[in-house]
Amino acid sequence: MSFDLVFFGGTGDLTWRKLMPALFQAFRHGKLPEGGRILAVARDDMPDERYREWLKERFREVDGPKRPSDEEFERFAALLHYRRMDLSQPEHYQKLKDWLDERNADTVVLYLATSPHLFTQICEQLGVAGLNQPKVRVVLEKPLGHDLASAQQINKVVRSVFAEEQAFRIDHYLGKPSVQNLMALRFGNAFFEPLWRRESIANIQITLAESLGVGTRGPFYDGTGALRDMIQNHALQLLTMIAMEPPSTNDADAIRDEKLKVLRSLKPFTAESVARDVVRGQYRAGTVDGKAVVSYLDEGKIPADSATETFVALRTEVQNWRWAGVPFYLRTGKRLAARDAQIVVNFRQVPHPIFPGPNQPNRLVIKLQPEDGLELQLLATKGSGEALTPVSLDLDFDKAFAANRVGAYERLLLDAIAGRLNLFVRSDEQEQAWRWVEPILDAWKRDSAGPRTYTAGSWGPPAASALVARDGFTWAEEQ
Ligand code: BG6
Repeated sequence: MSFDLVFFGGTGDLTWRKLMPALFQAFRHGKLPEGGRILAVARDDMPDERYREWLKERFREVDGPKRPSDEEFERFAALLHYRRMDLSQPEHYQKLKDWLDERNADTVVLYLATSPHLFTQICEQLGVAGLNQPKVRVVLEKPLGHDLASAQQINKVVRSVFAEEQAFRIDHYLGKPSVQNLMALRFGNAFFEPLWRRESIANIQITLAESLGVGTRGPFYDGTGALRDMIQNHALQLLTMIAMEPPSTNDADAIRDEKLKVLRSLKPFTAESVARDVVRGQYRAGTVDGKAVVSYLDEGKIPADSATETFVALRTEVQNWRWAGVPFYLRTGKRLAARDAQIVVNFRQVPHPIFPGPNQPNRLVIKLQPEDGLELQLLATKGSGEALTPVSLDLDFDKAFAANRVGAYERLLLDAIAGRLNLFVRSDEQEQAWRWVEPILDAWKRDSAGPRTYTAGSWGPPAASALVARDGFTWAEEQ
């Protein structure tokens, strides 16, 4: 199968930091289908050769073992092409079409790795140029909109040009092997399913913690905040995978229908419940990994009175028979104590303890990063009459599957080329997620108190602990 893969924003950060290195890995592992061409388009004028040189330089920043040797880069670079394109000029789209038509590949993937405010313009122009034949797929990077209305507006334009099955909306968390293992854990094993419900589970905690600050993305981040950046997409996608009913098949729409049902079952927020169940925070100077770091307000180009949240913790419920009354806590933040993404499923206490000891409830920890694995915490005893002691069964997927696991962007790029939509977000899912977060955004707009502060290197404002303590629970790291 021949393919042409076009990156709009071909000299942008996302392209050289994530997409090209991921494609290179696919190429190195022999996973890229034969007969492919990769075309980068951007504003600058340069011949293919100069683009290849430029990318070679950028690749020097790629992680050691993932960096190509000169010989490998030369072979990869043979697939690379570059064209100048002014995205506001219709004739430039026509030229792109001519270039693509000349070869007439079986599949054309158009990856919009530009600033999102250009998405509608690009899609409209692609439509005008006739670059929307059934063999064309368009890949849209997040963020898709900044609220429900803007997301609907983008989707309306995308739908007016492309069929839903041509639109590949990226949430790179869905490409992480650990996240796909979540599906395998739930629907490839009979073991947990009978317990996966309110009768056995006391609460579920999803934590996406980062130790990094906003870095050079200050101006973008300040207009976005943690709720839009991490909760509306990554955290909610994880929640849907944890809470969904078993799909009838492994097809994209069977899965996405079930995920959508979860999003529709989430308890809607009101102004009162936002005040009670959502905690927002902003980091102040502190110490992370032994190094002093500055306050969010002192990161470059952040307004001195910014009320943008760099931390969110919230409590919600999935209102259906399986989950009624079970709290789901979601938490994310920058400059927290560790880089740690995990889902903790806390089971209920035994109904009638007969052993001495802690009687601590069982817990399943699904580790997404930095490690990728599962930990099942149980209680055991050294012998008759001895107190119970916590022990754990640990599974490390990197060890279990040894080398060459496919990274998130590599997986998603290969799936887009192959036309597999399972790991991409459908427009109705995405809009429902916006519908659910919007009352939080509205309540914050009216709340002049602004975010609470927390010290960089901590686990967020103390109010986040109080949120969970109110139900008689604690966050995993507090136990
Ligand atoms: C991105 C956010 O979607 O995800 C970033 O915009 C965040 O702010 C990143 O740092 C986290 O991704 P990962 O894969 O490093 O957990």
